[in-house]
Amino acid sequence: MKLPVLLLAHSIPQSLWPSDLRIEKKVALRVARNRAELRALISDADGLITLFKDPVDAKLLARAKRLRVVANIAVGIDNIDLKTCQKQGVRVINTPDVLTRATAELTLALLLAAARRVPEGESLTRPLNRNRRFKGWELDMLLGLELKGRHAVLVGKGRIGKETAKLFNGIGLHVSWVTRRDSQTMIESKLRKAQVLSLHFPLNADTKHWLNARRLSLLPRDAIVLNTTRGPVIDERALIRALHRRHIFAAGLDVYEHEPRIPAALRKLPNVVLLPHLGSATWEARRGMVRLALQGALGILSGKQPPNEVNFFGLL
Ligand code: GLV
Repeated sequence: MKLPVLLLAHSIPQSLWPSDLRIEKKVALRVARNRAELRALISDADGLITLFKDPVDAKLLARAKRLRVVANIAVGIDNIDLKTCQKQGVRVINTPDVLTRATAELTLALLLAAARRVPEGESLTRPLNRNRRFKGWELDMLLGLELKGRHAVLVGKGRIGKETAKLFNGIGLHVSWVTRRDSQTMIESKLRKAQVLSLHFPLNADTKHWLNARRLSLLPRDAIVLNTTRGPVIDERALIRALHRRHIFAAGLDVYEHEPRIPAALRKLPNVVLLPHLGSATWEARRGMVRLALQGALGILSGKQPPNEVNFFGLL
């Protein structure tokens, strides 16, 4: 019997590969080494495994005559053209839950680093410039903000938002929420009190530039903005202006509007912590994500209903 073809848009490191699933016995694996190979190999593929940086757009899907499933090794699916998938009967898998804790922990790491100016301090201990090195303890060196008792507003009450709230409560922050049901007036009154503002909702046409210049201008001067979801949910230029003019205290960013490009104006600012999209980068989360994506794809290819199939209802 001919095995279904499962195409990997990237090779998956052995250290993350779930060998107990015996995948090689269930599908014929192909690996694309680049986008051109992906475009060539997709025409024979029954299943496709992608990363969130791979656009699965109408152009690629037009070549995918046999494709039954796209499994994204990510919880976010903004790289996938869901409308075209639905039209072509291609089902979509993502990897929720397994990365929730890792992403919440990284949000907390960004918050602590931004509040206590960790990157600025660290750079004094390994100076690129001899004049900017640690010359001894000073009473007013790199003073930051104590977080206990401050007011945090979390936007998006999904799995990652709720887990982040637990961690924030644990260090004594008072947490409140902005949800989809809030009116514009309610959102604005919450933003005026947000000493910590942390974003936890997916990117789509409605959420692009959710945090714009107007909303940034409402934040208190001691506000810290955190983004571990997708870069385009913030108007990055407006954020750079707010940080540069010290309208807010700091930001902690794991994602960027035009990732992986990080504007020089952002890199030059001292009051921002910048990470290279590490939200789910723990061994536990990444192993779980690879396993879930492969299990989901295998499930669909063998006629089963995986629990992590994306329900298009309400997304289109
Ligand atoms: C990573 O950013 C993800 O969506 O899982």
